[in-house]
Amino acid sequence: MSYLNQLFDLSDIRAVVTGGAGALPSVMAEALAKAGAQVALWGRGTSHRVDEAADRIAERAGAHGRVYGFTVDTATEDAVSDALARTENSLGLPNLLVNGVGGNRGKTAFTELDVETFRSVFELNVLAGLVIPTKVFARRWMSEEQPAAIINLASMSSYVPLSGVWAYDAAKSAVMNLTVATAKEFAPAGIRVNAIAPGFFVGHQNKHLLIADESTGELTERGREIIGRTPLGRFGSFEDIEGVTVFLASPQASQFVTGVAVPVDGGFLTDNV
Ligand SMILES: NC(=O)c1ccc[n+]([C@@H]2O[C@H](COP(=O)([O-])OP(=O)(O)OC[C@H]3O[C@@H](n4cnc5c(N)ncnc54)[C@H](O)[C@@H]3O)[C@@H](O)[C@H]2O)c1
Repeated sequence: MSYLNQLFDLSDIRAVVTGGAGALPSVMAEALAKAGAQVALWGRGTSHRVDEAADRIAERAGAHGRVYGFTVDTATEDAVSDALARTENSLGLPNLLVNGVGGNRGKTAFTELDVETFRSVFELNVLAGLVIPTKVFARRWMSEEQPAAIINLASMSSYVPLSGVWAYDAAKSAVMNLTVATAKEFAPAGIRVNAIAPGFFVGHQNKHLLIADESTGELTERGREIIGRTPLGRFGSFEDIEGVTVFLASPQASQFVTGVAVPVDGGFLTDNV
């Protein structure tokens, strides 16, 4: 086996990617599949269809028979337990959880925020996007003494609040906090927990905030400001997330790495005056 294969081959990985039909999670799922993993995409099946995404990813990754789609709402503990049992029937006990569910809605002055919207964005990112799947998977892994890893999705707003997205800011700083806290708690069980903190990738959740006119590519003021503060001078493209996904998923490459978030941000966090 070549040195690169020894470090990055994922053929012993059985991954669940929540929100797996979404923009960033589907790219992460594809990267895992290309590196040899079996991958179960979990999604609500409303906006994005997981079975269609599974077929597309299997095709693109040359991973026929290794990518599965499961419909599940990760906001409910019972539904997650049931989906884990269904997933185990297809690919065995998973040993990697990618918590890809999350997203933002709207941008307002604090004094105008709608409390119900705040609650739903917070719950989406913290409960459905991390706490509920993490609890269910970690319990199962501990009961089976299964070494495993978790990759959470943090954000630039985990470090510095972005203006007007109050619930998202609060939720993503919680994601960072919980990444560190669960990494410590789960380490004795051989479970590593890390996060990826993507910078600004244009997806459907933030397109309207960044791009004023899709036909011309003209940016909003916020979009121009972000590029101005990104030393590498562009938005992220989804492929930028692939390498770090494979690295954090690979026990051979990152077995002594836990409790960290890796920014993939073109240097956005280096911004200073
Ligand atoms: N796109 C970006 O630029 C960016 C930047 C930083 C962080 N992130 C984070 O990355 C993650 C993915 O973002 P994205 O832009 O790819 O979003 P996305 O909306 O394209 O993907 C999220 C997927 O999760 C699914 N989903 C939502 N609620 C669910 C639930 N309760 N149960 C099951 N599935 C559910 C959605 O249907 C969707 O397919 C989020 O946590 C987001 O905050 C994205």
